Amino acid sequence: MPVSHRRVSPKLKSVRKTVKGTLWIKVDPRKPQIDAIRIAANIIRKGGLVAFPTETVYGIGANALDPKAVAGIFRAKGRPADNPMIVHIVNRKDLHRLAEGISQAAEKLAAEFWPGPLTLIVKRSNIVPEVTVAGLDTVGVRMPSNRIALALIRESGVPIAAPSANRAGRPSPTTAQHVIDDLAGKIDVVLDGGPTRVGVESTVIDMTKRVPQILRPGGTSFEELKAALGKVMLHPATFSEKPATLLRARAPGMKHRHYAPKAEMILVEGKPDEVLKRIKELVAVSLADGKRVGILATDESISSYDADVLRSLGSRNDLAEMARNLFRLLRELDEEKVDIIIAEGVPSQGLGLAVLNRLRRAASFNIVKAS
Ligand code: TXA
Ligand code: MG
Repeated sequence: MPVSHRRVSPKLKSVRKTVKGTLWIKVDPRKPQIDAIRIAANIIRKGGLVAFPTETVYGIGANALDPKAVAGIFRAKGRPADNPMIVHIVNRKDLHRLAEGISQAAEKLAAEFWPGPLTLIVKRSNIVPEVTVAGLDTVGVRMPSNRIALALIRESGVPIAAPSANRAGRPSPTTAQHVIDDLAGKIDVVLDGGPTRVGVESTVIDMTKRVPQILRPGGTSFEELKAALGKVMLHPATFSEKPATLLRARAPGMKHRHYAPKAEMILVEGKPDEVLKRIKELVAVSLADGKRVGILATDESISSYDADVLRSLGSRNDLAEMARNLFRLLRELDEEKVDIIIAEGVPSQGLGLAVLNRLRRAASFNIVKAS
């Protein structure tokens, strides 16, 4: 149940409303209103749940050092208890409170990429409660770059544990409306800073290994990390075409069903002209079966298709745009009540690796190779 929000300033009346008991406050992402931040920070300190924007996706946050508060996140999301949280900080010194034996490579990445979409897995210190890290001896730490997120952590005075603010298994939220759709009545407040800039989650990199290993591709690319460190490995689950239950799951979250729209989904990968041809065949079959068909394609290809619902991720030449649009479009296709989504694969360079990884999971690895 939401903690009560008695200390709401009357000045904020015009920019807030309540949905099923969850307070929804509009905040300026460039210059966050301090009254709004204080309301949310007060809730964090009291052990409540606050959804807030980061540059990647919206998170559902609680005091990372308060086991009861963190347990509330698992309940609200319906999150499996074996999936650890990322802990969000505002100051690089906080990394040293949360972690032990931080390597030089980890220090270098923190200096170079924070604030930003990169989560470092490091050995945890004993101030981090077991529930926060699902019993692991490591902790994922990141400093987000969104000003609302930073102001919230600073005003709360505690590190904030925050997974993506979706019901477990659903596409991650990139707007406050998405958060409300999934979690209204289950969280105390959502700070609405508008659509998120990156659109896919942070890159998770395991810094406890001799050669750092990317466990989840995300907003910081493999290429950038390789340029910074020299040697970086990709965990097989990052580029796998098979469910992680068939691999050894290092990032516990990777073995759970993820990003899934309600509709059945097929991902068609290959050369653009062959993908186009194959998708047209698949559409014909689905329409003949009486299915309502949605297509997820690109600006370059979308006008070549004929189906019930057409959506473009953006230009094939702009992977950042595709990343930004992905989760919103998966939710929109669900709202259109399609029975099947047929999607084009994307190139795996740069941000494309993160987009492809999410598309494959959204499709439950239902992948067709066009050739
Ligand atoms: O961009 C993001 O990372 C967003 C925003 C809110 O910061 N957060 C996010 O959290 O995506 P979540 O919980 O949805 O995904 C975190 C991923 C999961 O796959 C989890 O298993 C992994 O990071 N993870 C967290 N702590 C870990 C640890 N100690 N060891 C291995 N994997 C860990
Ligand atoms: Mg998530």
